[in-house]
Amino acid sequence: MEKIAFFDAKPYDRESFDKANKDYDIHYFEDKLTAETAPLAAGCRAVCAFVNDTIDSAVIDTLCAGGTKLLLMRCAGYNNVDLKYAAGKLVVLRVPAYSPYAVAEHTMALILLLNRKVHKSYIRTRDFNFSINGLTGFDLHGKTAGVIGTGKIGQAFIDICLGFGMKVIAFDPFPNEELAKSKGFTYVSADDLFAGSDIISLHCPLTAENKHIINEESIKKMKKRVFIVNTSRGQLIDSEALLHALREKRIAAAGLDVYEEETDIFYEDRSADIAHDETLSLLVCMPNVIITSHQAFLTEEALSAIAAVTLANADEFFGGKGEYSNEIKV
Ligand code: NAI
Repeated sequence: MEKIAFFDAKPYDRESFDKANKDYDIHYFEDKLTAETAPLAAGCRAVCAFVNDTIDSAVIDTLCAGGTKLLLMRCAGYNNVDLKYAAGKLVVLRVPAYSPYAVAEHTMALILLLNRKVHKSYIRTRDFNFSINGLTGFDLHGKTAGVIGTGKIGQAFIDICLGFGMKVIAFDPFPNEELAKSKGFTYVSADDLFAGSDIISLHCPLTAENKHIINEESIKKMKKRVFIVNTSRGQLIDSEALLHALREKRIAAAGLDVYEEETDIFYEDRSADIAHDETLSLLVCMPNVIITSHQAFLTEEALSAIAAVTLANADEFFGGKGEYSNEIKV
């Protein structure tokens, strides 16, 4: 039986993979994959990693020295893999789509919570405080959603916004005009999106070009009191600039499922630790910021699909065809 070293394993991962797996000897490690933990994979021809694992040159060298040939990313994004260095050393496969609905629905959940202040009502009524002062929101109907990235998740989110009676404008370097026409949204430039949106939602991959696409300059171009929602990757937003704009009340609210320095924090219980990330500490304390722990994907359907596609990716590799449907190439 081929061995798979499975890093950053959580109980829900084990459950979904154990249910789907028949053919592999999966060694679950709770640790994230780093230069320190990579030797644990020695003797495993496949390694399975997730969004906050580090797959840099040092890790790739250690994995290869231990006999690893295949990296199975059990996620869609792969900004944490040094693909150039991996080329010719490891085959890197991923799960390009598992449930765009899971992420799109979580995005709208963040918007609804922030707008209608449900997080505050929940706390108030638990304390038998039934006052509604300070909880005024606005109708989403008729407002403009600005969607950055119109791939699978962006499209699912656009459908939700249109269902709410919102207008949708979108920016994507590879616009699909037929899609826009059929759904009823409009492609605009990034600057026009910043200027015209009441809510801006990020649904693009993190690349070298779009790191900090939300920064001090782009925030200046936005409507005053805009909402920003990020369920894509933390580094798309300059967190310091976001914090500054929230304090100045130029941004009215932020919903963040991802954070640029999330790697050592998200997915862990840090409640007994002294927090060292001042920006995150300040963001968490703001009444108009909701942070979730990179959980937008976390539905039963998505977990089953991730396990099924990851194991099918392993089957393709070990089947020896040499061609892989979900290969990430440089
Ligand atoms: P996709 O590949 O289907 O679509 C991405 C779209 O972004 C494409 O249309 C592409 O042309 C566009 N794009 C590329 N560069 C861009 C840029 N600089 N500005 C605007 N658009 C750009 O990807 P999918 O499945 O829709 O996922 C989007 C992102 O969502 C992933 O890359 C990942 O970072 C994030 N994600 C987050 C999850 C979570 O749990 N929070 C779970 C799954 C994905």
